[in-house]
Amino acid sequence: MTFYRGAIAAALALQFIAVGPAALAADAASGKNKAQTCLACHGEGGRSVNPFVPSLAGQPPLYVYYQLLQFRDERRKNPIMSPVAVGMKDADMRDMAAYFAQEKPAPVSPASNPELVKAGEKIAQVFHCASCHMPDYSGQNHIARLAGQQRDYLALQLRGFKTGSRPDIDGTMASAAQPLSDQDIDSMAGYLSSFE
Ligand code: HEC
Ligand code: HEC
Repeated sequence: MTFYRGAIAAALALQFIAVGPAALAADAASGKNKAQTCLACHGEGGRSVNPFVPSLAGQPPLYVYYQLLQFRDERRKNPIMSPVAVGMKDADMRDMAAYFAQEKPAPVSPASNPELVKAGEKIAQVFHCASCHMPDYSGQNHIARLAGQQRDYLALQLRGFKTGSRPDIDGTMASAAQPLSDQDIDSMAGYLSSFE
């Protein structure tokens, strides 16, 4: 079973890598027009002010594109976001991803509880979160930007990776989330959301 799931994850990862170069041929200006309907939830320029809606501004374009694919293909599910992705065209996803990538990231929210933030920083070191997400947590390729992201959203996603309710394309986040306790997750979310 584990091998079977591993094989599927590997095949999916390959499929995603295969569409990589196409993801670069995108039109940000046209993406801006197409993305106007997204802003009611994701905020002006993709800078969310809703604790459970993620900011998209400054996300690596490949990350946004792959997440839209996952919503459309019903691998990632959410009652609010899934209906938006139904029938979305690949080219539109790439254009919108290019648009959000070039937007200025959301301003950092005021640090939550300084103790949490400190604890989160330690956990990030122990589990090498920055090795994939980059030292400034700006993300890269198919790996999410986490810096300044909505705190409640981050905590929800980490819990989702841990329980499997949010599947990920290559299984790395499912593994990374396993050792995190509930308290660790709250600390990490506090740390990352206040990360400048
Ligand atoms: C009605 C509100 C709503 C609208 C409109 C909406 N979204 Fe979302 N979106 C959400 C919510 C809520 C989530 C978080 C889902 C979750 O918790 O898994 C989300 C998640 C996402 C994510 C995943 C981000 C991440 O950090 O993983 C992407 C990408 C995204 N939306 C793109 C879009 C695009 C592009 C549009 C416009 C075509 C759009 N959304 C319109 C509510 C909305
Ligand atoms: C081996 C590389 C790797 C490591 C280490 C890693 N991540 Fe990730 N992370 C990813 C990838 C890839 C994704 C995108 C997952 C997907 O396909 O949905 C991701 C996504 C996330 C998301 C979802 C962001 C969003 O916008 O929805 C959060 C939160 C996150 N990681 C936090 C962490 C934390 C906290 C750690 C350390 C405990 C960590 N990551 C370690 C690769 C990694």
